[in-house]
Formats: sequence, structure tokens, C-alpha cells
Amino acid sequence: EKGGYDYFMLKEIAEQPKAVADTLLGRIDLAGNLCLDEVHIPASVLREVSKVVIVACGTAYHAGMIAKYAIEHWTRIPCETELASEFRYRDPILDQRTLVIAISQSGETMDTLMALRHAREQGAKVLAICNTNGSTIPRESDAVLYTHAGPEVAVASTKAFLTQLVACYLVALYLGQVRGTKWGDEILSVIRELSEIATQVDQVLETMEPVRELARTLADKNTVLFLGRHVGYPVALEGALKLKELAYMHAEGFAAGELKHGPIALIEHDVPVVVVVPSPRGRSVLHDKIVSNIQEIRARGARTIVIAERGDETVAPYADHLIEIPATPTLLQPLVATVPLQVFACELATARGNEVDQPRNLAKSVTVE
Ligand code: M6R
Repeated sequence: EKGGYDYFMLKEIAEQPKAVADTLLGRIDLAGNLCLDEVHIPASVLREVSKVVIVACGTAYHAGMIAKYAIEHWTRIPCETELASEFRYRDPILDQRTLVIAISQSGETMDTLMALRHAREQGAKVLAICNTNGSTIPRESDAVLYTHAGPEVAVASTKAFLTQLVACYLVALYLGQVRGTKWGDEILSVIRELSEIATQVDQVLETMEPVRELARTLADKNTVLFLGRHVGYPVALEGALKLKELAYMHAEGFAAGELKHGPIALIEHDVPVVVVVPSPRGRSVLHDKIVSNIQEIRARGARTIVIAERGDETVAPYADHLIEIPATPTLLQPLVATVPLQVFACELATARGNEVDQPRNLAKSVTVE
């Protein structure tokens, strides 16, 4: 049932192109418009939404952090993303015009379920983004968008994450489309690019051997740091989470702009630092800033592992290891940038002799608070 792979995680990483294609299936019409009628929240209600609040845990929370950038950019609706476990304990402000999005692979995560129950009690509408048909979270929500990733068995989430991202982009683009923001042309072009994304994920998967080789050389390290900006920041957090849960290594993700506010003190000789570089075209200011971050940490002895768009020549001189990914619109970059980090963590876990599919102390679905 592992389809010839040693671990479910490897199988699920390899299934990602198909999984993201399945999330998109039937949801974009021939004219390039989104059709999400299945969501069953009338367009009139979506037009009145004054705030979006995303609740989720772990990897799903990282998908939600990325969704915030997309939703605010394409819809201009204020959006916050909150850890489901914190949400109801701080008396959040919710009303009938709040759209709460609960993201969960399993649909059974107790913290997320309690957060959505709290939101509904306050009158908010809840949309679930979920991978498991008929599970508790979609059953208790007002509407659901299934990710259709297929069963995810490995404890470490991979294909569920990518498909949660695709579902979040669909919701963000749909909200933008329904509300008719000034980003109409951009929305149409991103929908087109999204339809191509499975091919790009596939291209990344085909170039992973150097990442595996690199991971094996780092098996005796104690710490790996991850840096990113904009949507690359949640990607950095996700890379660090994968490494913690699989390799049992100390790993931390930072927003690169925070380096000088503390984390740069951690940089010493040969500490591996993975940097997710934004596209040089989209947010080029951020790109240049992160290139100077890479120079700074390298000058202090860090071993720089740089994930950058293919053809981005400005970063190459400062990368001890360069991992190239295909060009995508800025907001979609996490779909290709996360894949090398999954492969990296999986290979490090193997090199350290860890149980890849069933890491110690963890359960696939956390049904207690
Ligand atoms: O089933 P859910 O998406 O609600 O699970 C949320 C987290 O428990 C989950 O993403 C966890 O962080 C994964 N093990 C990460 O790989």
C-alpha cells in the first residue's frame, strides 16, 4: 500500500502534483472563472463579510498564515490567522459578518473544533477546509471545501498542506471575484497560473536528489535555522516544524526582517540556515533585502542553503547550496518552495535512523485539547 516507497511520507510527497490537480478539479470553468457553488454560502453573504478569521493548528496553521496574505491582497478584507488552541481563550471579536475559516486535514482536531464552535456561538459563519469527508469539523461548519488530497497516512503533513494552500487560494480568489476588487485582471492571471501549478510541483520533485544528498551531510548537526519573508515566512516555519517532528532536531523559523532583533546572535560557524528567497520580479524590494540578509549571515560563518527562483543570479554567489524552484507569482511560491523542505526533513530523519511515518510522541490526529 506504500506503492513501492519505503515510507508513506515519500509516497505522499510524490503524490503532490496529482493532489493539487485534484483540489482544482471542477473548480475552474473553461472561461477561467472559479465555480465554488458547492460552498453553499451565497455570494450576497460573502459580499457582506467584513473580516476573515482563520483558525488551525500546526501545518494547517501555516497554510492559514499564507492564506492571510492572499486574502488581504486579493479581497482587501482584513484577515487574521490564529492558532486554534489560543482562539477562544482571548474572547475574540466575532459577529454575523465574520467569516471564520477552519483548516484541518483530519477534520477531527479538537482545538480547531472548539474554536469553530465558539465562532458559531458568536454568530460567525464557518467555512471548513478539510481533507476528510464527513469528519466532525465539516459536519459542524456552515460550509466545506474539501481538499481531495486522498488519505494522508504519515504523521507529518505534506500533500494535505499543499492542497490546503490551493483551497485557500481558491477561497481568496473567489472572494475577490465575488466582491469585484480592482485586482480582477490579476485574479484571472493567477487562476491561470494555479492551473499550471501541478506541473511545477512535479518539476521540483524531479530535482530533489541534491537536496537528499545535502540532508545526509547534516545528520550530525544540532540546529537548523529557517528564514523567509512575506509568504516565505510561514514556509520557513513549516520547514522548521517538519524538521522538529521528523528529525528531532532543534529547528526554528524566523521572519528574515527579525534577524537583527535577536536571532542573528545564533549564527555561528557552520550552522545551517535555510533561506526562502522571494521572486526577484514580484516583491523585488523584499528580494533585495533577503539577499543582504544572506550576505550578513554568511559573513558570520553560516552555511547558507538558499531556495530561490531558477535564474535568480543575484543570490548564487552567497549560497553554499542553491536549491532552484520554478518561477511562480509571489503569492503562489509556497506551493513550490515547501516541497524541498519536506524532502530535506524526510531524508534527515532517515539518515538519523528515525521512524519517518510515525515520529515519537506524535499522533496523526490530535483529538484532545
Ligand atoms: O488534522 P489537522 O490538519 O487539523 O492537524 C493539525 C496538526 O496537528 C498537524 O498539521 C500537525 O502539525 C502535523 N503533524 C504537521 O506535520
